[in-house]
Amino acid sequence: MFATIAARYDLLNHLLSGNIDKRWRRIVAKTIVATLSQSEAPVLDVACGTGDLSITLLEEGASRVLGLDFCRPMLDIAASKALKTGFSLPLVEGDALDLPFADRSFEAATIAFGLRNLTSVEAGFSELLRVLKPGGRVAVLEFSKPRASLRLIFRIYFTKLLPLFGGLISGSKSAYQYLPDSVLRFPDQNELSILMTQAGFVRVTFRNLTGGIAALHCGTRPIDS
Ligand SMILES: C[S@@+](CC[C@H](N)C(=O)[O-])C[C@H]1O[C@@H](n2cnc3c(N)ncnc32)[C@H](O)[C@@H]1O
Repeated sequence: MFATIAARYDLLNHLLSGNIDKRWRRIVAKTIVATLSQSEAPVLDVACGTGDLSITLLEEGASRVLGLDFCRPMLDIAASKALKTGFSLPLVEGDALDLPFADRSFEAATIAFGLRNLTSVEAGFSELLRVLKPGGRVAVLEFSKPRASLRLIFRIYFTKLLPLFGGLISGSKSAYQYLPDSVLRFPDQNELSILMTQAGFVRVTFRNLTGGIAALHCGTRPIDS
């Protein structure tokens, strides 16, 4: 599915969100970079797709970012964007549920709009925790549950208009039907915080973005683990 939409993925993200998605990724990048002990600390961007968050992390001052995704056409676009911006961005084709890295390899990890697509959120968290160094931070950006006043309008937009325009522009009706379906099935802010805590993260917090349409969840691998 992601291979089918790769060529139009960025255009649709920015168009369908009115560019708000860029602001959300910027917040994630700033939050994570602020926690790094030094700019050379290794950061893993899981399910990096076309590399928008990886590149934003580099723009915000992280100098060793590695992107991972299992979809080669997405990675090809990420590689050409990194080349254009002049950043060095190593990219790995791999599975978020079986990360090809040793335990305790990264000081921080991010996953933007990726967790929802994994067959098991718990297994995804377990892999993220495993590859983080003790004390390392994870940031998860996902669609979430908007505040009550936005819920109706968001639902109409997300379940009616977005699949229509997304399907027309991308040529894949099913991918843009899958998007709202997967978001509506996904745990809300509180449920996801509980899952993160159960997975072993500590200092678990979340911050609503644009009235809770998306949320940034952060957690830390315990120092003594
Ligand atoms: C909605 S895109 C998000 C891309 C990017 N992080 C962003 O912010 O735009 C979801 C990405 O997750 C990737 N993905 C889904 N399941 C995966 C898995 N098990 N392992 C690695 N990548 C996966 C897809 O290939 C796709 O590129």
